[in-house]
Amino acid sequence: MTTLLKTLKEILGPQGWNCDPEELRPHTTEWRGVYEGRTPLLARPATVDQVAAVVRACADAGVAIVPQGGNTSMCGGAIPDATGEQIILSLSRMNRVLDVDAANFSITVEAGCVLADAQEAATVAGQYLPLSLGAEGSCQIGGNIATNAGGLNVGRYGTARALVLGLEVVLADGTVMNSLRSLRKDTAGYDLKQLFIGSEGTLGIITAATLRLFPDPGQLATALVGIENAGVAVDILASLKTALDDRIESFELVSQRVFGLVERHIPDATLPFTEEYPWYLLIETATGSTPQLLEDALATEIERERILDAVIAKNSKEAEALWRLRHSISEAERQDGKALKHDVSVPLSKMQQFLQRGDELLARLRPDLRLIAFGHVGDGNLHYNVGLPRDLTEEEWATEGARITRAIYDLVAELGGSFSAEHGVGQSKRAWLAEYRGGAELELMQLLKKTLDPANILNPGKVI
Ligand code: FAD
Ligand code: MLT
Ligand code: ZN
Repeated sequence: MTTLLKTLKEILGPQGWNCDPEELRPHTTEWRGVYEGRTPLLARPATVDQVAAVVRACADAGVAIVPQGGNTSMCGGAIPDATGEQIILSLSRMNRVLDVDAANFSITVEAGCVLADAQEAATVAGQYLPLSLGAEGSCQIGGNIATNAGGLNVGRYGTARALVLGLEVVLADGTVMNSLRSLRKDTAGYDLKQLFIGSEGTLGIITAATLRLFPDPGQLATALVGIENAGVAVDILASLKTALDDRIESFELVSQRVFGLVERHIPDATLPFTEEYPWYLLIETATGSTPQLLEDALATEIERERILDAVIAKNSKEAEALWRLRHSISEAERQDGKALKHDVSVPLSKMQQFLQRGDELLARLRPDLRLIAFGHVGDGNLHYNVGLPRDLTEEEWATEGARITRAIYDLVAELGGSFSAEHGVGQSKRAWLAEYRGGAELELMQLLKKTLDPANILNPGKVI
């Protein structure tokens, strides 16, 4: 290890590495504080050639590398293990916007470009990068692609995968694969970039990406709506899609308990209603020259008694205040303490059944559980988190947690859903992959991993 560290320092230069365990703590601790690892060195390469040289040196020494973006992963994916023998490779110095090709509706960035900076570059060019999530001020495009991030605009624009036109990737032996094309049509052999999207740093290190841009969606209308029963959300979505010609930018469901956490833990966060409702929908639509459309559609839903109350933002400040409530959920949940995180999806047609059977299931499992449910209901993806009684011992937490998680994942599987819809598998869901994606799918994943990373040096212990 000593020889390798010396070589890495030479490759990276004085600005390109850090070995101070105190300064490295933000890089060795997961965002929620659930996972903590150790590393002898944080590599901060400035160029793709340096990334390739670091990978080659680590491959020669048989030392593992953990690629790291903004370290906002929710599943322990970007944290080294506790051995202190894995190098972290941070992309944060490779943060440039390389090109905005407005005529091609595309943007090319280095992998360490912070998502908000890429969005801003698109806006400056009069275009729109639709990927949007609460962590956008710190997560990086490389991390977004490596996790196939979802977020708030998936229904209309798809996940990160749908936005990627081209990638540059450093492979496990240090080879640079340059597929940084900006084509919408290309049938020249296998579409190799797809392998790396959502592979969580286990198959290659993404160093640059070309992403699709869209025309500016124009005037947006944002509303917070109170509803009695989460099950009606999908009916409301279907009606709004028709009424608004499918121009739904976001369609988020949040329970009263979850907004209660936000009001409790986040300064100056208050819901704009005088009454409490069991569930809320945060809806954003692109209304173009007809801003009245959303109001009319919501009025129809009130007449149908599917909506109890609605507030429509009168200006961008009010819209931002509504979004602040939504974006504060993860922080409020973090402050509230430990909960089981279940980041699941089901087909939209099964969402009502999932919500109803989920309620019944939790009541049967333990009457003292707290459901902390919110998320991207318009995409069939919910954060179906569960709080356990706070007086359980660590051991009881582990056994009860596994029992409850299994029951929820079984229900999700029965309904044709996924136990891992948005955040990736990382460390926290690795054991479940074999159960819910076993057989031919898992075998092919293992074969791919062995083929692309035979010495298992890229983010070992994650995903598979
Ligand atoms: P990291 O956390 O650093 O890494 C994530 C994984 O990608 C790790 O396995 C890492 O090894 C790998 N990786 C990172 N960079 C590279 C690279 N260049 N090449 C290869 N592998 C790499 N996620 C959503 O999908 N939707 C949401 O709505 C959402 N909201 C969030 C809100 C908050 C407040 C927070 C804290 C997180 C949220 N997340 C959400 C989770 C997280 O932000 C995403 O998973 C994001 O895509 C991770 O990006 P990152 O740069 O932080 O990656
Ligand atoms: C969200 O939708 O806010 C996120 O995916 C983050 C979380 O689950 O906490
Ligand atoms: Zn989410």
